[in-house]
This record gives sequence, structure tokens and C-alpha cells, in this order.
Amino acid sequence: MAKAAQRPPVKPVLVLNGPNLNMLGKRQPEIYGRETLADVEAACRAEAARLGLEVEFAQSNHEGVLVDRIQAAREGNSGIIINAGAYTHTSVALLDALNAAELPAVEVHLSNIYKRERFRHHSYISPAAVGVIAGLGSQGYLLALQALARLLAR
Ligand code: DQA
Repeated sequence: MAKAAQRPPVKPVLVLNGPNLNMLGKRQPEIYGRETLADVEAACRAEAARLGLEVEFAQSNHEGVLVDRIQAAREGNSGIIINAGAYTHTSVALLDALNAAELPAVEVHLSNIYKRERFRHHSYISPAAVGVIAGLGSQGYLLALQALARLLAR
């Protein structure tokens, strides 16, 4: 009997966090909440397991390190969830890296950047994203995982 065609296993989704997100829980809790980044990671891992996905979770305060990680994702990951923190509003390098990665990327922000200072209203990286989720706190990461699970199943 002919073997059923097997799909190659889906590579892990990269969940990448930019500057100051390591301070979650302590940093302006009235804006970003009391959950720590470790809490967000645990919630992402649980949701990914439920969806049958693997995640790699990373954070850096350094733009070049984030660029390197996105470049590595081109080979090693199936999709990217990115909260680029303040680099969202400044970084052409992250936009270029995301475009070069040629992977589905979802941009996430804990806070509603459109309700805040004007300089936060513009994102350099949105043109490289399939979608943007802002203002829903850590739930945004879980919604992004759900969206990628659907996209990757196609
Ligand atoms: C953020 C919003 C950015 O404007 C800010 O610089 C951050 C966090 C968010 O998750 O709401 O560091 O990306």
C-alpha cells in the first residue's frame, strides 16, 4: 500500500521580545500589567502545546541581537511573534530583517499604542506583519499563536 504523504513537522514559532520587556511586572504596571515575562512565556508554552505548536521564546535589549535572531528564524522557525518594544517606533533594521526572513510574522503590543503618545502610533515593522494585535495585554501573544497555527496549517 502506498505510504500516506506525510507533512514535514512544523518548525517552532519564535516569540521575540525587544527592549525593556525583561522588566515586565515591575515596569509601569499600570500600563503593562503585573505579569512577568516568565509568566507570558509559560502562557505561550501552554497555548502552543494546546495548538500542537512548539515555541522558542527570546528577549533582548539590543537591536543587533534581535536582527540576528530574526535572520536565524528564516531557517529555524516557521513563524514569528514579535513585540519589538520601543524599536517598533525606530527600527528600519528590524523591518528589513523581518522582510528578509520571509515568514509569517504577527506584531504584538501589550498596550494600545494608539491610545498613547503620538510617537508610539507609528510602527516601522507593521508592513512586514500579517497582522497586528495591540492593547490586549499578554492575551495578545496567545491570539497571535492561534492566528499562526491557522496560517501554518494551510
Ligand atoms: C510595547 C509598546 C511600545 O511603545 C513600548 O516602547 C514597549 C512595549 C507594548 O508591548 O505595549 O516597550 O511594545
